Amino acid sequence: MTDTPHSERTSVSERIDLAALPHDFLWGTATSAYQIEGAVAEDGRSPSIWDTFSHTPGKIAGDDHGDIACDHYHRWPEDLGLMKQLGTNAYRLSVAWPRVVPGGDGPVNPKGLDFYDQLIDALLDAGIKPSVTLYHWDLPQVLQDRGGWPERATAEHFAAYASAVAARLGDRVTHWATLNEPLCSAWIGHLEGVMAPGLTDLTAAVRASYHLLLGHGLAAQAIRAAAPGAEVGIVNNLNTVHAASDRPEDQAAALRMDGHVNRWWLDPVHGRGFPADMREVYGVELPERPGDLETIAAPLDWLGLNYYFPDTVTDDPDGPAPHARSVRRPGVPRTGMDWEIDANGIETLLLRLTHEYGPRRLYVTENGSSFPDVVRPDGTVDDPERQDYLIGHLAACASAARKGAPLAGYFAWSLLDNFEWAYGYDKRFGLVHVDYDTQVRTVKGSGHRYADIVRAHRGQAREAA
Ligand code: FCB
Repeated sequence: MTDTPHSERTSVSERIDLAALPHDFLWGTATSAYQIEGAVAEDGRSPSIWDTFSHTPGKIAGDDHGDIACDHYHRWPEDLGLMKQLGTNAYRLSVAWPRVVPGGDGPVNPKGLDFYDQLIDALLDAGIKPSVTLYHWDLPQVLQDRGGWPERATAEHFAAYASAVAARLGDRVTHWATLNEPLCSAWIGHLEGVMAPGLTDLTAAVRASYHLLLGHGLAAQAIRAAAPGAEVGIVNNLNTVHAASDRPEDQAAALRMDGHVNRWWLDPVHGRGFPADMREVYGVELPERPGDLETIAAPLDWLGLNYYFPDTVTDDPDGPAPHARSVRRPGVPRTGMDWEIDANGIETLLLRLTHEYGPRRLYVTENGSSFPDVVRPDGTVDDPERQDYLIGHLAACASAARKGAPLAGYFAWSLLDNFEWAYGYDKRFGLVHVDYDTQVRTVKGSGHRYADIVRAHRGQAREAA
């Protein structure tokens, strides 16, 4: 790791109010199983819906797939070395359901769990706290063949799988997330058809959303039963939503979009039920059974926020639910994903969660940016735009903490460049560059910068102690 000149360190501390963050703040990176592991047919893993989807011609840019990805399944010791190099004290990973229960339900595959077991031990040896997400979109294909998330049984099988993972890892892992971004599974996977399983069916989407949240509640119970002392949370990707104009139609559209992307996912887990206005917008009967809402509202130890960009919408009466269309604001800075850059959004959302939902603790479980990185002839990767994004968003996080948000950690998306779902390998979010031909990893400028920030915070915390 290169030494950073003192002047740069000062400027980072000046831009980010590091003193607002708790001394035991978790500084992490995040990844997910299908995006990095590869080894899709090893040690008893069965195909997931993402194997099927990515091997369906035309679904993924460049027809890319996760067969090899970052080959993390074999190269994890090197990747752990990168985390040590960055100086992080936490790592958010996901467990692949089709490795652990290849049949979807039924027998557990001990070999699938062995992989995570050894990784967890090595993380702990390195002083890096694991945060384990149980579902980052890789449903076993066998369960999709039986109806997938629109079916109630899938939620029950999810809880059984969660129990098996917690029973094996729960003596060492305390930090658990049930679901990653159920919005994407339900809305993008079942309504927009852009993610696996690739459906465009509102009824299926609404049923999926319901069973995902039911699965969350059942899994929370299962984790706590198998691993007393577990701290259980859920990870949502939320947007700040703005109306494109003062027109009442656009204002109403913004409210609907807020319901679609934010309230539908937050209200039920906080005991408020599914928002009545959105039930009307969808017009789909929920597959409710007595007691479900209580299960879904299992008390949470923490809430996870994934934040990338804000949304500006206009009324779209003829479009699909929620009849609101995102509009492009001209002249606004954007990332390589064409996502608008607005660091204030992360502060707004952290404060909104704090005031409206009263979480015990908040984590930014993902935040990051994709830019078309280039490896320079000297072998380095300079990514000033990603560094600006990182510093700007961390400054906004610290500002939220200063104003009272119980923010306990930040996980940069992502440790490595990886398989960016429908965008394939073209979009790079890593703090570490991956050459997919050689699997050579190179810490980018943003990785070095993140290490500086972590070090600066640690130094401040030590001085204050
Ligand atoms: C989030 C996903 C994550 C990654 C980032 C860019 O929606 O949780 O897997 O793809 O976006």
